[in-house]
Amino acid sequence: MRTAKYTIIALCLLIYVAAVYVVTTPSLLSASSPARLQSSPESDLKVPPPEETVSLIDRIILTLTNHPATSIGIQWRSNKTLKNPQLVQYLPTPESEIDPQTAKSVLAQKKKSTDNSFEHWQTTLTSLTPETSYSYRVGNQDHWSEWFQLMTAADHNKPFNILFFGDIQEGIKEQWPRIFRNAWLTHPDASFMLFVGDLVNKPDSGTEWHDFFQSLGWLASIKPMVAIPGDHEYNDKILSPFWNKHFQFPAYEPDTSCPLNNTAYYFDYQGIRFIALNTYAMRGLKLKETLQQYQWIKQLLENNPNNWTVVFQHEEAWSSALGKSDKHHLKLLFAPLYEQYNVDLILQGDSHVYSRGQRKTKENQRLLPVYISSSSGTKFRHSSSNWADRQGEFLQLYQHISFGNNQLVFKSITATGRIFDQFTIKTDSRGKSVLQKPPS
Ligand SMILES: [Fe+2]
Repeated sequence: MRTAKYTIIALCLLIYVAAVYVVTTPSLLSASSPARLQSSPESDLKVPPPEETVSLIDRIILTLTNHPATSIGIQWRSNKTLKNPQLVQYLPTPESEIDPQTAKSVLAQKKKSTDNSFEHWQTTLTSLTPETSYSYRVGNQDHWSEWFQLMTAADHNKPFNILFFGDIQEGIKEQWPRIFRNAWLTHPDASFMLFVGDLVNKPDSGTEWHDFFQSLGWLASIKPMVAIPGDHEYNDKILSPFWNKHFQFPAYEPDTSCPLNNTAYYFDYQGIRFIALNTYAMRGLKLKETLQQYQWIKQLLENNPNNWTVVFQHEEAWSSALGKSDKHHLKLLFAPLYEQYNVDLILQGDSHVYSRGQRKTKENQRLLPVYISSSSGTKFRHSSSNWADRQGEFLQLYQHISFGNNQLVFKSITATGRIFDQFTIKTDSRGKSVLQKPPS
């Protein structure tokens, strides 16, 4: 009964939102009936640039799973001149020289691909020991990568910190790496990196994806990443084929065959629930994808044993950039859920400005969650926000978020290392409160 009631309420809200869209965005109505999201045929891929064809094995990327204490995903690509199959060898990291004879071997799964020069591979290491360093390499007897070291998560609540990067999109090769490198040089103990989409500008550009993976370099082989697609990972309604070839994120449960799979997911990491929402799938008021994700996230928030909750979504609920409009479905459907179920942070991109703010009651009391929008590349817009407490424009930024037992510390940092914005959320016996701090 309760679920039916919520569904009816959600439907009513959605109809209202649709009416708002009809009035405010007539161009949406002229669009043809929305097609289901699907993977792109790769026949329209551009020819890879010459520099892509020299490596034998590259783009070795770690991704988080639903169980980061005991498993981890590994993706890579290999030159077609190497024999099949490819595998992963791994072992608990020894202090002395690594003896490959003592390593376990796991066959990798070859992904479907029509690349001329490369195969793409994926495997998930399972039954790992929590809080343990493992060494691994990928390849086969023809050619092995170097050995990398990774660290599994703890299987209980334990403080940790992460790095959050907003849209890259432009300046991927020329100016984004300085932000990325500064972030990791300053915070080498960060457990993983989180991207909120628009990793590239053109979803099917082999050159831009090449630049992105080149910029990640070997860091992506020793630190896991999670990401959601932005609108620039979609070519109209088709997800870039580079996405599923290179990334394996936690499954969209319970229906792993859903087109949202690998773009909407959740995982719990040492006492924090992270939920990745695919806002592009809802664009144009797609009823099915919107309600589907609404019910999905509601259930994840209702059954959440964690102390802290973070949602990352590409599009902003409340717009903070000139020329961008509010997303009514996020404001009217999802934002009330976030408040009802005590979500702490909403990490966003899309606007290409910096904004941080909270919804306020009539009595001007600030409510959780804190909404943050940021970008790390060189595409910028002018800021235009009536909701943000802190705004910035024409800044490349990265964010460092530290999760403690009783407090969460958030910092937004410039290319020179200056703290542009920061705040702390503390827990007390009455719940959580946000303590604002002036920028340094
Ligand atoms: Fe963007």
